Amino acid sequence: MSDVRGQFSSRLGFVLAAAGSAVGLGNLVAFPVMASKNGGAAFLIIYLFFIAFICYPVMLAEISMGRKTQRNPVGAFSELSGGDKKWHLVGMLGILTPFMIAVFYTVITVWLVVYLKEIATGGLGALAEEATFGELVAQPSLFGYLAVLLGIVFFVLLGGVKGGIERLARVLMPTLAVMLILLTIFVLTLDGAVAGIKYYLVPDFSKMSLTVVNGALSQAFFSLSLGMGILITYGSYFGREDNIPQSTRMVAIADTSIAFFAGLLILPAIFAFDPNTNTDDLSTSSVGLIFSFLPKIFLSMQVAVGYTGASIVAMIFFTLVFFAALTSLVSIIEIPISCWIDEWKFSRKKAVLLQAGLLLAFAIPATMSLGMVDFFTNFTSYGGASKSFFDLVSDVFYETILPLVGFTVCIFCSYRWKMSGLSEELSRGDPDYEGSLLEKYINFSLGTIIPVVLLVVFLSTVYQIYL
Ligand code: PHE
Repeated sequence: MSDVRGQFSSRLGFVLAAAGSAVGLGNLVAFPVMASKNGGAAFLIIYLFFIAFICYPVMLAEISMGRKTQRNPVGAFSELSGGDKKWHLVGMLGILTPFMIAVFYTVITVWLVVYLKEIATGGLGALAEEATFGELVAQPSLFGYLAVLLGIVFFVLLGGVKGGIERLARVLMPTLAVMLILLTIFVLTLDGAVAGIKYYLVPDFSKMSLTVVNGALSQAFFSLSLGMGILITYGSYFGREDNIPQSTRMVAIADTSIAFFAGLLILPAIFAFDPNTNTDDLSTSSVGLIFSFLPKIFLSMQVAVGYTGASIVAMIFFTLVFFAALTSLVSIIEIPISCWIDEWKFSRKKAVLLQAGLLLAFAIPATMSLGMVDFFTNFTSYGGASKSFFDLVSDVFYETILPLVGFTVCIFCSYRWKMSGLSEELSRGDPDYEGSLLEKYINFSLGTIIPVVLLVVFLSTVYQIYL
C-alpha cells in the first residue's frame, strides 16, 4: 500500500506543509487579539510555556502515530490498538473533528475573500464600521465566492500530497513570511509604535486569570493544528528515516514566530493609531467583532499614509491572512480524504469529489447562518444564548473538542501503544533521542501532567460554554 500512498518529497517539504497547516487565522488574527486583551507579554510567556511543555510532546505523539502506521487517524488508532473497537471510535473522532472544523474555517475564509474584494475596490472605510460585517456575511453572493474558494482548494487536493499540498506550501509559506516581516518593519517605523512594542514586550500579569490561562492553552493547541488528526496524517506522509523531533521543532518555531510577528504588527498599529481602543470589548470568540476591529486599525493609519496607503497596507495584511487560511484549509480537508483513500480504497479523485460534496452540504447551511436564513441563524440555544449553526459547529469542534482529542492521544500513546513504541518511532532518524532529556520528559509527562492539564481545559471549556 505504501507505494500508492502520497509522501512529502523531503524533510523541508514536510516542515513547510505542516507549517502551512499550523500558520492560519489562529496566528495572524486570534493570537494578536488575545495578546492585546490579556496583558501582552504576560500572555506571550504563558503561551510559549504551553507550546514547549504541553503541545510539543503531543505533536511528537501524533506525528509518530501516523508515521508508524502510515495511516489516517482512524487507521492509526485501529492498527496500533490491534483493532480495538473503542479506539476505532476515538479515531473516528479524529476524522469528524477536522471535517467539522473545515466547515467553519471555510466560511471564515470566504469572508476573507470578500474583504479582499471590498478593500481593493475602496471599501476599507465601510469595513471599519461595525454594521458592515453583518451585512456582508448575509449576502447571497457569498455562494459565488464559496464556489471559487472550494474550486481552488479541491484543485490543490487533487494534485495529491507532493504535487498539491506540498507545492502550495512551498510557494505560499516563504511569501507569507517575507510579506509579514516587511509589513511589520513598516508599521514599526511609524510614530507611536513604541508604545505598542512596550505593551507587547513588557509583561502585565494583572490581567491573568484562569480563563486567560485556559485560553492560552486552547489557542496554542489550535495554532499548532493539534487534536485535529492533521499531524497524524501528515506524519504518515513523512519519510521513514527522517528526524521527527527536529522537524517538529522547526514547525513549532515557525508557527510561534509567525504569531509573534503578527503581534508585533498589530499591537504597535493599535497603539500608534488608535491608542484608546478598548481591547476589553474584544472577545476572540466573536469573529464579527474581530472582523471589524482589524479594518478599523488599518483605516486609522490614514493620518500617516493617506486612505490609499492605508488600503494598501490592509490589502497586504488580508492577503497574508488569506494565504495562511488557504494552506490550513487544504491541510484540514486532506484528513477525511486520506481516510476515504486508506480505509475505503477510493482513488484520490473519487475521495476528493466525495469530500467536496460532503463539505458543501455543511458549508452551505453554515454560510446561511449569519443572518441569511433564520432557521440556521437561530438554530439552537445553550449556555443562556441563542446560537446559529455556525456557532454550534465552532463551539463544539473548535472551542471544545481539541483538548479532548489531545487527551485521548496522550492516554493512547502512554497506556495502549505504550511509551516504548513511541520511543522507538521517535528514535528512527534521530539517534540522539534515546536516553535524551526530551525522552525522559516525554515518557514522564505524556501519561501524567499533560493529559491532566488537557482534561482540565476541556472540562472548564464545557463549563464556560454550555452550562
Ligand atoms: N493552525 C491553524 C490556525 O492557526 C488551525 C487550523 C488548521 C484550522 C487547519 C483549520 C485548519 O488557524
